Amino acid sequence: MKLLDKIGREFSGYNIVESGKRLFDRKPLQCSLYVTDRCNLDCAYCTEYDNSRSHPSIDDLKKWVRKIRELGTMRIALVGGEPLTHPDIVELVRYCRELGFATSLTTNGFLLTHKLVVQLEKAGLQVMQISVDRMTPSAITKKSFKTILPKLDYFRESKISLHITGVICADTLAEAQAVLETGLSRGIPTEVRLVHADPLRRFRVDPGQREELERFIDSMIERKRRGEKIHTSEAILDYQRSLLRGEHVEWTCAAGYKLFFVSAQGKFWICSMVHTDKHIMDVTLEDLYANYRKKSCQDGCGVYCAVSASLLVEKPGRVLGKEILARTKRVPSIFHTSSRRRTGDPKPRGVANPDGTHEMNDSANGGPAADYGVTLREGV
Ligand SMILES: C[S@@+](CC[C@H](N)C(=O)[O-])C[C@H]1O[C@@H](n2cnc3c(N)ncnc32)[C@H](O)[C@@H]1O
Ligand code: SF4
Ligand code: SF4
Repeated sequence: MKLLDKIGREFSGYNIVESGKRLFDRKPLQCSLYVTDRCNLDCAYCTEYDNSRSHPSIDDLKKWVRKIRELGTMRIALVGGEPLTHPDIVELVRYCRELGFATSLTTNGFLLTHKLVVQLEKAGLQVMQISVDRMTPSAITKKSFKTILPKLDYFRESKISLHITGVICADTLAEAQAVLETGLSRGIPTEVRLVHADPLRRFRVDPGQREELERFIDSMIERKRRGEKIHTSEAILDYQRSLLRGEHVEWTCAAGYKLFFVSAQGKFWICSMVHTDKHIMDVTLEDLYANYRKKSCQDGCGVYCAVSASLLVEKPGRVLGKEILARTKRVPSIFHTSSRRRTGDPKPRGVANPDGTHEMNDSANGGPAADYGVTLREGV
């Protein structure tokens, strides 16, 4: 990839003009659509799957995404359950792109094949998040690099921007550092985030020891400031540190307004934790705007995508300014990568795990972050 393209991609995630509109108008920025409740795994911390339910039909999914788009939503995040268990996932991605959505998909990656990656790319998928919690599976979570590492090769030539996200809890903490290094050393934007409680505010798993967690979050903040590809904003890292310290954070939850969720039954959900019985087909822009208010569940909220969008809407200058600064620090490493390729030097510089090591599909250049948006084909 040419140098200018690389620098462009470093900043393309912001989609500044289009995202900018959503910071100042009253339309939604992002919807997370549960493509299915079904899942092929059973992570102990998770409350977001239910194998007693069947997949929604592709016709229903298409009807809901049309409505979501009509509301002015720019970005759609396909989630679940496990979205790749849905037999029509490629068709759904294609349809979302035809409607003009910036489209991402979050997966545990177990069902990925090279053929499926190519199909999803051809359908127009722009961003894929693969969730990886550990190096090896455990009783709490099977999402480990043992399964995922061989699959990363499928993305070598792919245009899909890949990033990796892990959950930190007592079970995964000892391996969280290795997960981070493994992703980063391959040039893949990577993040590990604190486990959150269930809708009844109970932790399903031991969340881990506070001081240790805080040290880990601090180390990610430092690395983020150095320009490493930690796949979350400094604002969200700061937020997690405040959660651990029990500090109050001043923010207004924009969930149900700037971002919202749609369940695999087509119900409008404020977020993954707060559900309503209203059908998405009956939702109006006024309904959405009414949800822009401080909420009783804000203290300790672990729906980081919602916190992220809320902070972005509230303090766009501060959040984006820091992110742009961090990404600017990556530009010299892009020059390094280019000159390394020209000189045929295979060693990535400045990575902590030089053994681990090929850069993936130019995601070394910071693919679009699901938190901030991806380029749209057309405006809404
Ligand atoms: C519900 S999953 C659905 C997509 C897919 N099955 C996967 O695991 O990537 C979406 C994301 O939520 C994360 N997640 C689920 N429960 C969580 C919890 N209690 N705390 C933090 N993250 C959680 C998962 O690890 C995953 O990254
Ligand atoms: S793979 Fe995803 S949806 Fe399935 S149990 Fe784990 S976190 Fe939940
Ligand atoms: S504060 Fe958190 S849990 Fe409550 S509605 Fe907002 S995102 Fe959902």
